[in-house]
Amino acid sequence: MDKILIKNGHIFSPSNRIDDKLDILIVEDRIEKIGENILDNEAKVIDASGLTIFPGFIDLHTHLREPGFEYKEDINSGSRAAAAGGFTTVLAMPNTNPPIDTPETVEYILKRSDEVGLAKILPIGAITKERAGEELADLRLMAELGAVAFSDDGDWVANSSVMRRALEYVPDFPIVSHAEDKTLSLKGVMNESPLSYKLGIKGIPSEAEEIAIARDVLLAKLTNGRLHIAHVSSRGSVEIIAQAKSKNLRVTAEVTPHHLLFTEEELKTYDPIFKVNPPLRTEEDRKALIQALKDGIIDCIATDHAPHASFEKEFDLNQAPFGILELEVAFSSLYTHLVLKNELDIRTLIMAMSYMPAKIFGFDRIGEIREGYLADLSIWNLNEKWTVRNLKSKSRNTPFWGKELQGKIKYTIIGGKLIDVDEL
Ligand code: DOR
Repeated sequence: MDKILIKNGHIFSPSNRIDDKLDILIVEDRIEKIGENILDNEAKVIDASGLTIFPGFIDLHTHLREPGFEYKEDINSGSRAAAAGGFTTVLAMPNTNPPIDTPETVEYILKRSDEVGLAKILPIGAITKERAGEELADLRLMAELGAVAFSDDGDWVANSSVMRRALEYVPDFPIVSHAEDKTLSLKGVMNESPLSYKLGIKGIPSEAEEIAIARDVLLAKLTNGRLHIAHVSSRGSVEIIAQAKSKNLRVTAEVTPHHLLFTEEELKTYDPIFKVNPPLRTEEDRKALIQALKDGIIDCIATDHAPHASFEKEFDLNQAPFGILELEVAFSSLYTHLVLKNELDIRTLIMAMSYMPAKIFGFDRIGEIREGYLADLSIWNLNEKWTVRNLKSKSRNTPFWGKELQGKIKYTIIGGKLIDVDEL
């Protein structure tokens, strides 16, 4: 029997109130025991003195690019990037080529995830065939084969009847909305504001997002369906989601690390590295997103890890694709720039990256460190600084490239499998 004994680490699992120096005994893929001075002669011992042990992170929103765009990322490199960022479960978005819109593509993702054998990759199926917004894909069959949610991410399902039917057809699966009315965002590149006019860059008003969220919330009310709003970026969106929650609708929401960390001011340099969809907005919006996370209006952090090749991000601002690399820097950047600067408490951060995503998507026995739960852990030295380079991802489109962050990962344990990140 495979056994791992982690000794002398500081366990921080806020959902079940563990904030203590305790040992963890892992047997096969499960957490067998948490306690003081555990002894086991058969176990491989990991000395975690000076290290902090969090539940494995769960990312509800990752672009792994396989199949079709393997020059940006693939399931192998993306799984390695996930493990190096402390993620033990990641949900793969279906804007691939072909899209994940059939039972066969769902099976393909799961098979590749098994072959690679690192973070668990769970497919999100497309809502519509070819992600074209017109005809529902076979949601039930995809769900039976392992799709855990549905989304046309990258595009909003603009046809209200189609969205209604998706919410009705699989009422217990999250329908993840990329809320963007493209008849309003048009060819915009950054937040529409006095700054975008001054810079002469085409803007995307936050109303393009808010209109879409308002419609989706109304459809969630009509259908009692399960709606999840992806990458919330504005104060106005937070207000609509707060109202939906006050009416007990089955609505949840996520925010990305980059919308918590950056504002439209970054676009002053015209650097495409900061071109994301939805765009970075104002400081007022950023503050509202942090507050919404603390208040539980926004349920969790999801990365929207969006790898793009260097040559693509070297196009000018209008031509370059939207997206930022996240998996390997998400925790350290939020820890360095929000927690250590007292803008966000570590409890909210860890809840938002582990317990909450598991809870809102209904994943069993992950998201906290508890006896009987799956041994999914991420183990960090919170005092160690590191420079962002040599990432496992195939792409390097992060604004933190070459920058120093605090909080360095040491080990990720995925279903009892120990990964020494330095050797990954
Ligand atoms: O910035 C983004 N990049 N936002 C999206 O919605 C899609 C993503 C991508 O696939 O590159």
